[in-house]
Amino acid sequence: MKLHPVGIIGSGKYVPERILTNQELEQMVETNDEWIVTRTGIRERRIAAPEQATSDLALKASLDAVAAAGITVEDIDLIIVATITPDMYFPSTACLLQEKLGAKRAAAFDLSAACSGFIYGLATASSMIASGMYKHVLVVGAECLSRITDYTDRNTCILFGDGAGAVVLGQVAEGRGFQSFQLGADGAGGELLKVCGGGSKVPASAESVEAKQHFIHMAGNDVFKFAVRIMGSAAEEALHKAGKTKEEIDLLVPHQANIRIIQSALHRLDLPEEKCMVNLDKYGNVSAASIPIALAEAVEQGRVKEGDCLVLVGFGGGLTWGASVLIW
Ligand code: COA
Repeated sequence: MKLHPVGIIGSGKYVPERILTNQELEQMVETNDEWIVTRTGIRERRIAAPEQATSDLALKASLDAVAAAGITVEDIDLIIVATITPDMYFPSTACLLQEKLGAKRAAAFDLSAACSGFIYGLATASSMIASGMYKHVLVVGAECLSRITDYTDRNTCILFGDGAGAVVLGQVAEGRGFQSFQLGADGAGGELLKVCGGGSKVPASAESVEAKQHFIHMAGNDVFKFAVRIMGSAAEEALHKAGKTKEEIDLLVPHQANIRIIQSALHRLDLPEEKCMVNLDKYGNVSAASIPIALAEAVEQGRVKEGDCLVLVGFGGGLTWGASVLIW
């Protein structure tokens, strides 16, 4: 079977207006701007308005991506939303988004792979288009992490923010588009980063709320070590599969978790900082939305040119990781 080349034909992003600064966090927990900036690189993050849910952020990013792709919502065959903060258990956020967009022809489902979710979504969508099953797939990473963040826990509350990024995938010219995907998981590390309350194991109860089981719990240092190891190796494996070398990378678009994690990936890949998209200073870690927001912003800033070799790489809860090499 001949596979069609698949690439990103439009991208978009949306971040809420409300900015939560490090100075404000100093008033909430025992921390300070200097610690946060030196240990993480984050200066501020966005927080969704009370009336905004994940699907609302996803809608704005998706409308941008659809317009940039030069298609209409009626052309979308499938919507995949990668999120760990769905509006609700079900219907899926993808179905809620389908309705808000008016994308009547589209099938829709959510994908759960934490911060790696967007890359997992790209891999899924790209295979479906490559096989000829679909022509246009909307892949969205969208999160309202503020809703599952404990603002009395200084280990986590400084890191996370809200936002959404979206791309439309479609057929592209021969030699362009996705060249490889490298996905992975290690369930043994699941304990390191989790929200355990509210599922079938620990259903919501007064006790689960009291025990703060509906918030993110994280073993920061262990996640850090895992991230440093996996970012470089996942990117290298994706490059190898694509038959590319690290010297050929024009732009690295990494998951925006911590500047020190990104710097270690740059070191491993021998890449100068100019070849890396970083915006975590403004938005913090937005989980599945981090990579598509960074990508959309790189496109907006004119940092991505036709024919450029991009590497997208991320890691997250599960544990999970994913990388992709793509010719723009
Ligand atoms: N302000 C001030 N001090 C803080 C702090 C904060 N916000 N958070 C933690 N500390 C303290 C700790 O209590 C600890 O104090 P102690 O030595 O007295 O116990 C000290 O700083 C060092 O803590 P440690 O956890 O070792 O710091 P770190 O250098 O590992 O940085 C993270 C902490 C969370 C920033 C870092 O581990 C990290 O980014 N991990 C990855 C997290 C991540 O990416 N999660 C999402 C995955 S998608």
